[in-house]
Amino acid sequence: MKTIHIGILGFGVVGTGVATLLTRKKQLLESRTGARLNLKTIADIDTQTNRGIDLGSTALVSDAMTVLTDPDIDIIVELIGGETVARKFICQALENKKHVVTANKALLAGWGNDLVKTARNNQVDLAFEASCGGCMPIIKTLRESLVANDITSMSAILNGTCNYILTRISREGCSFEEALKKAQELGFAEAEPSLDIDGHDTAHKLAILNALSHGMEINLKDIHVEGIRHITPTDIAFAKSFGYTIKLLAIGKIHGNHVEARVHPTMIDNANPLSHVDHSMNAIAIDADATGRTMLYGHGAGMMPTASAVLSDIADIARNIISGTKRRVPILGYPEDNIRQIPVLSMKELMTRYYLRFEAQDHPGVLSRISGILGENQISIKSVHQKGRKTNGKVPVVMITHTAREEWVQTALSRISATDSVVGNPMVIRIEEEVA
Ligand code: HSE
Repeated sequence: MKTIHIGILGFGVVGTGVATLLTRKKQLLESRTGARLNLKTIADIDTQTNRGIDLGSTALVSDAMTVLTDPDIDIIVELIGGETVARKFICQALENKKHVVTANKALLAGWGNDLVKTARNNQVDLAFEASCGGCMPIIKTLRESLVANDITSMSAILNGTCNYILTRISREGCSFEEALKKAQELGFAEAEPSLDIDGHDTAHKLAILNALSHGMEINLKDIHVEGIRHITPTDIAFAKSFGYTIKLLAIGKIHGNHVEARVHPTMIDNANPLSHVDHSMNAIAIDADATGRTMLYGHGAGMMPTASAVLSDIADIARNIISGTKRRVPILGYPEDNIRQIPVLSMKELMTRYYLRFEAQDHPGVLSRISGILGENQISIKSVHQKGRKTNGKVPVVMITHTAREEWVQTALSRISATDSVVGNPMVIRIEEEVA
């Protein structure tokens, strides 16, 4: 049986999970791949902490070069994270003709196009199943299972931290700050949570998934990103009363020669299964022309779910090696020569429905003034709701619009904010109509 040697860079939570699976599932992996997967070396600056795992003959070193330059090592697994050291090491690994497996979504979203070229120039593989949605096999699904489909749209919950916080606010009526604090205490949220709660982690994943869906270059910079800091229990209570749930969604759609790419809190109908994906779970709904809707649901993070996804990449590469092939499946799902730049639709052109909440003065004529400005901007109101108590002379007024163009909505809202009918900026939450 052929032995395939593996090196890991980064012995943190996921690194420990990968080492654990390679040890604990040795027999299963051998019988499934037909290869012996030998974890030869792990490199981490911390070689002292006891990770609770018997490394056997695996070397633990502090110098990454030991792994990067080892002629025996076939596959290097990058689990350091970040975009500086990790990028340098992945480039070196590819240039040293090592296949690379990574879970690093931020790096792929920012530098993925370059890394794909480097992998191509060196005729090695770059695999990243663990980068999006943890253990959900979304990369394999898009690259392989749906190969005969045009992907028309996807909507996904890809950040467990945000989903946990929104679930807590919804269940307990607590504030965003209280829910974040609880999430941090329970280890669901980082001490520095902005990457998650401001939507950037979700955008990194959407950039990768849009590329795989449409044969386009990875494009992070044109994704519209909003986080969940501003969501209040009041908005969640209004959403509930309409039969909606608020989720931080990644939305990708193709419209002719453009793609839609946006991340923002979204109201979805409770008939949509995504509305029932709670706590830190992730899920993705993919609409494709032959399949119709396909959904995946699973743990988006955590030691063993993420390690499981890393192992699926290792097994793919090992199977390639033992069958004398490599780069069997194109890295971004399309041979590099077929990858195009597809422009992202400007948010101004987005057509959707809106939930608008104003803190309105409780005076005669205020409602007609607001609705008048909306009407002058071609925005048709579906329903108006006023409930809750007056505070300091203001009452929350909610309007649900029919489908309108984002540019019209933003213009109208600037005009409304400039009047003395409302206080502060209105809350805007887009409504996604599709029902799964
Ligand atoms: N921090 C992410 C989350 C997991 O909360 O889902 C890694 O992308």
